[in-house]
Amino acid sequence: MRSLTLNLKDHSYEILIKKGILKNIGDELKKVVKGNKVVVLTDSNVDRLYGESTIQSIKNAGFTVDKIVFKAGEESKSFETVLDIYSKLASFKANRTTTLITLGGGVVGDMGGFVASTFVRGIPFVQIPTTLLAQVDSSIGGKVAVNLPEGKNLVGSFYHPDAVFIDTDALNTLEDRVFNDGMSEVIKYGCIKDKQLFKKLLSFKDIEELKENLEDVIFNCCSIKKVVVEADEKETGERMLLNFGHTIGHAIEKYFDYKEYTHGEGVAIGMNIITALAEKDGLTEPGTTEIIKKILIKYSLPLEVKGLDVDKVIDIIKLDKKNLEKDLNIILLNKIGDSFIHKLNNNNLNSFFKI
Ligand SMILES: NC(=O)c1ccc[n+]([C@@H]2O[C@H](COP(=O)([O-])OP(=O)(O)OC[C@H]3O[C@@H](n4cnc5c(N)ncnc54)[C@H](O)[C@@H]3O)[C@@H](O)[C@H]2O)c1
Ligand SMILES: [Zn+2]
Repeated sequence: MRSLTLNLKDHSYEILIKKGILKNIGDELKKVVKGNKVVVLTDSNVDRLYGESTIQSIKNAGFTVDKIVFKAGEESKSFETVLDIYSKLASFKANRTTTLITLGGGVVGDMGGFVASTFVRGIPFVQIPTTLLAQVDSSIGGKVAVNLPEGKNLVGSFYHPDAVFIDTDALNTLEDRVFNDGMSEVIKYGCIKDKQLFKKLLSFKDIEELKENLEDVIFNCCSIKKVVVEADEKETGERMLLNFGHTIGHAIEKYFDYKEYTHGEGVAIGMNIITALAEKDGLTEPGTTEIIKKILIKYSLPLEVKGLDVDKVIDIIKLDKKNLEKDLNIILLNKIGDSFIHKLNNNNLNSFFKI
């Protein structure tokens, strides 16, 4: 078991990483939940696998429990679903003493966190992330959001949970592609902040060895995110480092209308391309791209998109609502484990991104 505490100015919470913790989740919740009424929010896949046992454990701990299930998938991260969740909460007579438990991947956590931040002006919530991406990234740091037809995560806020419970056993039921998707973010942490983690990931002889060490690896990632978020909760500086690979990654996801590449795959391609460009410009230590390629191949992640129209990608980057200001902040590596923010003037985008 590993644990860490995320300390913010007006809120602190524990992140507990423990194999098998889901089986006794009721007892864990007793330590952090104040009232005796909880509502579990989950998606249809996770419900099928873990819904019943989780509800039972929570009941056994003496809580009154209701459950809300929505259809699995990014398409559900919408205001239509949010309205449905609000209605169900209202019908369950949920109030500010009711805790919302988000059991699932980043979709459940992001949307559930948004609901928790707004229902009756805010109810407590607890994250139980069940994908690797959610365990190392989205469940920590308080970013909650819902998609609009106009774009992903366009409505949201910063709203932190009262605790995060991470059960590595839950990852055993993930499809390989979803697991690898999360590995892209794990590799990202190594690239930006932790050479030792990067080396460790390279040294595992196979996925089995990685899985035996997952508690440690996840702890490494959560520790990095904790420190970064504590230093810069609202992403005005240091927290931007977590976006390594993401500017190009997001653009590639969008270029294919979110149908071809998952988020992690986009980020993998982004990390590779941006490092190659920076290395070419003398901004990154020579040889870094080669080693990034090696680790991406090892974890079955893509390196590039064949026949990609670079001009189109640049247009998407320029149109991205987050990139509207004059300078684009892109994250580059000095070398593995050491990253920095590079300001790129909009007028220089084309020359920088041209390979
Ligand atoms: N808040 C943040 O800081 C942040 C950071 C990164 C990503 N995100 C958001 O996270 C979302 C992506 O998260 P995700 O990749 O976890 O997607 P997801 O929640 O859609 O989960 C991926 C798939 O795995 C299934 N699943 C979940 N847990 C499972 C398990 N244990 N066993 C079997 N199947 C399981 C889900 O039903 C779904 O089909 C995006 O909406 C993205 O915007 C948020
Ligand atoms: Zn990401």
